[in-house]
Amino acid sequence: MMTFEQFMQHYKKEVEACMKKAVIATDSDQKLEQSMVYSLEAGGKRIRPLLVLATLIAYGRDPKLGYETAAAMEMIHTYSLIHDDLPAMDNDDYRRGKLTNHKVYGDATAILAGDALLTKAFEIISSDSNLSATTKIELVQLFAKNAGVAGMVGGQQADILGENKTLTLEELESIHQRKTGALLKASVLSGAIIAGATQAERETLVNFSRHIGIAFQICDDILDVVGDADKMGKKTGADLELQKSTYPALLSLEGAKQALVEHTEAAKQALRTLDIDATYLIGLTDLIAVRDF
Ligand code: IPE
Ligand code: IPE
Ligand code: MG
Ligand code: MG
Ligand code: MG
Repeated sequence: MMTFEQFMQHYKKEVEACMKKAVIATDSDQKLEQSMVYSLEAGGKRIRPLLVLATLIAYGRDPKLGYETAAAMEMIHTYSLIHDDLPAMDNDDYRRGKLTNHKVYGDATAILAGDALLTKAFEIISSDSNLSATTKIELVQLFAKNAGVAGMVGGQQADILGENKTLTLEELESIHQRKTGALLKASVLSGAIIAGATQAERETLVNFSRHIGIAFQICDDILDVVGDADKMGKKTGADLELQKSTYPALLSLEGAKQALVEHTEAAKQALRTLDIDATYLIGLTDLIAVRDF
């Protein structure tokens, strides 16, 4: 079995190759294609596709079965970041250590690159010759639901409406569950669907995902306060500027760190109740949540 480091390195490359192939193979407009590839190749931790593949491996299945699904998920995530950075949204100039998409290609092409990545994701899932039609429909439903109004897009809207307001912890969690939690959950569940996990196992994995989703956002919020912009490749202090409710703002920095430890432990506890080899899922949990702030 590969070490966690080898797992990450190897499968990052596989997913990246898969994404590139999908974009290069079909598009005819040079500028749009370049703009899509620009953001896909800008780096990123690739946490979501690795969650898809780690779940498949946990069930002893061939990770190749999940390549297209993993690539599709990362394309949806990348689209969400391109749009998140637009002047009409967070108006950010840097992402993944490079200029944001719209800073290089202009707002119109950045919007279209996002649209094209989202639609391409559904094209590649539905064209995957390794999976049955039933599995593909389940994946399309899962991704559509969690990327859309009940998931990431709805969460982004709620996040914007929450600016300049003090939210309760419950309201904040509900926003984050949709804004960032939904795609993380869909990543894990897509692996479980392809692996043929039972309904009960999927429920436990949803619980696991809920905790890593919150842990993920607590880290993002803490890093926005104390992080190093150069290391992160995006600017810090944005949440304060936009008067966002965040975990550090509601719980204090220490309280946020404590909540992070609790959610990380709860995530791992959920995994322990399953009869799977969770090695890489635990590695990814630590990657998400264990930081030297
Ligand atoms: C950043 O996501 C945006 C949020 C959803 C909070 P990641 O931290 O996974 O970003 P990349 O993909 O590694 O750049
Ligand atoms: C972005 O959240 C989440 C999505 C793109 C869905 P943020 O606005 O907090 O992410 P960063 O801080 O810009 O990466
Ligand atoms: Mg935002
Ligand atoms: Mg942002
Ligand atoms: Mg943030």
